[in-house]
Amino acid sequence: MRKTFRDKNNFEYWDERWASLEADEPMKNIHSYPLKYANLVVQNKDQKILEAGCGIGRILRYYHNNGYKITGVDFIENAINKLKKIDPTLDVQKGNILDLEFENKYFDVVLAFGLYHNFHSEKLHKSISETFRVLKRGGKLCASFRADNIQELIIDWIRKDKNSRHKEFHKLNLTKKEFTKIFEDHGFEIKNVFNVQNMPFLYKFKFFRSKKHKKFDENKARQEGYKLSFIGQLIQDFLIKFFPESFCNIYLLIAVKK
Ligand SMILES: C[S@@+](CC[C@H](N)C(=O)[O-])C[C@H]1O[C@@H](n2cnc3c(N)ncnc32)[C@H](O)[C@@H]1O
Repeated sequence: MRKTFRDKNNFEYWDERWASLEADEPMKNIHSYPLKYANLVVQNKDQKILEAGCGIGRILRYYHNNGYKITGVDFIENAINKLKKIDPTLDVQKGNILDLEFENKYFDVVLAFGLYHNFHSEKLHKSISETFRVLKRGGKLCASFRADNIQELIIDWIRKDKNSRHKEFHKLNLTKKEFTKIFEDHGFEIKNVFNVQNMPFLYKFKFFRSKKHKKFDENKARQEGYKLSFIGQLIQDFLIKFFPESFCNIYLLIAVKK
């Protein structure tokens, strides 16, 4: 377990980040994280789906536009307002994963990408128990968590000059064992845990980005995935093939409420 620190607290970080971006276009690439994994648990259009921590909506909009019953919740008001403005038919609301307003056993599926690693200690447990509470028995959870590994250490090290004096908790990094145990302890049955590449550290260097991504455009990267150049991808493929645990960004868990 390792904690990453920055200059802003969790709320300030997300508030500022989402304020600086347009609402997402729906994701396009079904082969990239997170859509690829969400599709493993979203199975039909009768399911009630919650996207907890929906941000600026790349997943929410994808499923909504394809006729699924999906509700998005996020605690950042500017993100919710952007989504309501771009598509008033979206079912999206301001809410806190630590205290959800839904009744017990309401959802068939919960999607939570990059959400739980915003917490540690009691809040982490509370966020997981709230998820457990709103899921139906047999309901499925698809969730990602920042990996405590070399890849994320390098990413934090690249930002070290910017971060060195910062004391605000930013993210929790967990090993795969720690990540699965915490969900098991809350009563989930773990079906699968994947090593996932989201944004490799190589993407931080212009040289290793694909041609269309040389000029960094976060909305585009969020929609298409963080695409590397041929050489960048070759190196990343090598690292992932031989050191999958050390060079993924996140662990992605599929679990069922027993
Ligand atoms: C990594 S982003 C992921 C956004 C979206 N799921 C996606 O994949 O594009 C994590 C999201 O969790 C939200 N979040 C963090 N703490 C939260 C809380 N206590 N309650 C609700 N949302 C929260 C942040 O505002 C942010 O939008």
